[in-house]
Order: sequence, then C-alpha cells, then structure tokens
Amino acid sequence: MHPLEQLRVEALHEIGSASDEQALEAARIKFLGKSGSISAWGEQMRSLAKNEKPIVGKLLNEVRNAVTAALEARAANFRSQKESEALARIDVSLPGTPYDIGALHPLTQMWERSIEIFRRMGFSLADGPDIEDEWHCFDALNTPPEHPARTEQDTFYLPDGRLLRTHTSTVQIRTMESVPPPIRVISPGAAYRNEEIDATHAAQFHQIEGLYVDENVSVADLKGALEFFMRELFGAGTDVQFRPHFFPFTEPSLEVYVKSKAIKGGEQWIEVAGSGVVHPAVFEQVNKARGDEAYDPEKWSGYAFGLGMDRLAMILFDIPDLRLFAQNDLRFLRQFA
Ligand code: DAH
Repeated sequence: MHPLEQLRVEALHEIGSASDEQALEAARIKFLGKSGSISAWGEQMRSLAKNEKPIVGKLLNEVRNAVTAALEARAANFRSQKESEALARIDVSLPGTPYDIGALHPLTQMWERSIEIFRRMGFSLADGPDIEDEWHCFDALNTPPEHPARTEQDTFYLPDGRLLRTHTSTVQIRTMESVPPPIRVISPGAAYRNEEIDATHAAQFHQIEGLYVDENVSVADLKGALEFFMRELFGAGTDVQFRPHFFPFTEPSLEVYVKSKAIKGGEQWIEVAGSGVVHPAVFEQVNKARGDEAYDPEKWSGYAFGLGMDRLAMILFDIPDLRLFAQNDLRFLRQFA
C-alpha cells in the first residue's frame, strides 16, 4: 500500500470516530492543515522521479478529495445533530402561554345598553363637565342658596368655589344654553356627593340624564318613555311604578321604581330614577343666560329624568353591593367578560 493510501485509511478512520466538532477540527489540522501529513505530500512531489509524479499526483488528489468530503459530511452530521437536540428541548405538547383579553366593565356595559335603547327612541348624546359652578348645578335648576343640597355636607366644593356636580342635571342647562328647542338628549356621566358609603351608596356614582323639550310634552310622554326603557332593559314583564315626589326643577315630579329581587333578597320596589315635567322657572333661567326667549314656557314644555346607573346595573347583573364596581377585583369583573 502506498503511504498516501495508508494516510487515507488513517484519516477516514479518525474522522469517522471524531466524537465532537473539536475532535473533527483536530483531525482536519492533522491531515489537511498547512503542515498536515497529507499536505506535506504536496511538498514532496518535487523530489519525485519524473515518471512517478503523475501517478502520485493523481493519488494525492484522490486522497485529498476523499478526506475533504469525509470532513464535510461529518461536520454536517454534527450540525443536524445539534439542531435536533435543540428542537427536542421544545415540548410541543405543553399548553400555550395564556394571555388575558380585556372586557368591558359592567357599568360600561350598562351605559352602552342604555344608550342603545335611547338612541332607538330618537335621543342623541350630550356632555358636560364633572367640575361645575353653582349656577349650573343649583341656581339654574331652581335650587335656591338655602337649599340643603348646597351645604358642604352634601356637596364637594373646590377651594375656588366650584364644585363636583351632585347630579348630571347640569347637562340639561348646558344643552339648552347652546341649542334651541326642540331637543331630545341623554347624557351619561359621573356625579358626586358627600355620602356615607354603604352597599347602595357611593361618593361617586353614575347617572344618565335625559331631557326632551318640544311642544305639548306631558307626563304621559315621560311615563311612556321610561316604561319602554325599563322593559327593554329588564324584560317585557318588568313592573314599573311612578311615585309623586319633589324636585325643585320639575313640576310635577316623579320617582321611578322597578320591582326586582336583585337587591336585599326578596322581591321589592327599588328606586331607579328621578323625573318630572321641566319647571317653567328652569326655562326662564336658561332664557336669561341665553339672552333670548328661545325657551318660552308658554310655547315649550318638556320632561327630564335622571337614571341611577349603578342601581340599574346592580339589578340587571344581580350585584348585591355597588362598592364592587370600584374595587377592580378581577374575580368580580371576570364574571361580566
Ligand atoms: N337630579 C336628580 C338627582 O340626582 C334626579 C332627577 C330628578 C333628574 C328629576 C331629573 C329630573 O332630570 O327631572 O337626584
């Protein structure tokens, strides 16, 4: 056997038994590196006899090619082995990483359902600020300075004399100031009172205010609209009751009750709204602010209402304590997702 053939056997054996990439690289250097034993034959060619040169040269090429091919094959082998080891570490049978999808807060859902019902009845949306002045919150709504609602016990005042609105009825005034009749608007929003907090009272609560001004509006229109709303919201069989009441800005005034099992166990009447026929004094105040007679009480009449959103949501979703709405407890909120 020619020494080159001997080297080929040795090299192929070493390559075949290389246990890792380092061992393979060591074999490459040993045989094909600059001073490797096969490379050394390239140098020795010069000293060979003329007739030997082509034979040995051909053999050298064959050996070099064979060893190079074996090195590459073995390297490819190691690469694919590494890849499949990495893949083996991924357990495709494991469950995926779960992520939470947000959902609307029950009060927001309540707002959206209510707005949708009123839209079908021809109401559009109006808005007003949470920080108000006394005039929009009280005076314009026929509530004189000596009225108990204006004391600091009930109202949060800011140092500059402004206040957090105690009801959304402020938006009635703001709307009439900026648009002439006829109007038909609702305004959902927050209201604030210095309340003793318990299961059915909070210092920040939510209302949907409604105002309809047109010619010949009567209590019958008011009752029809609110009965329709309650039955759309709670179902066709819902009992609705109107009880006489007093609000400075309406005459007559009515409280609205629905019958429900939701709050405090047994079935009972629960107050969900204040309402009434807009007091002419409110129109007069608006006219004064506008500087015109757009809301002539002889020509125009209207009804207004303020729905307690938190109460309605408690009834609709069967929630026993309205403090839950503000606690951000996911165990609670997830039930409405
Ligand atoms: N603003 C009243 C409250 O918060 C509720 C109310 C009563 C609103 C009669 C009205 C209304 O629009 O006409 O207690």
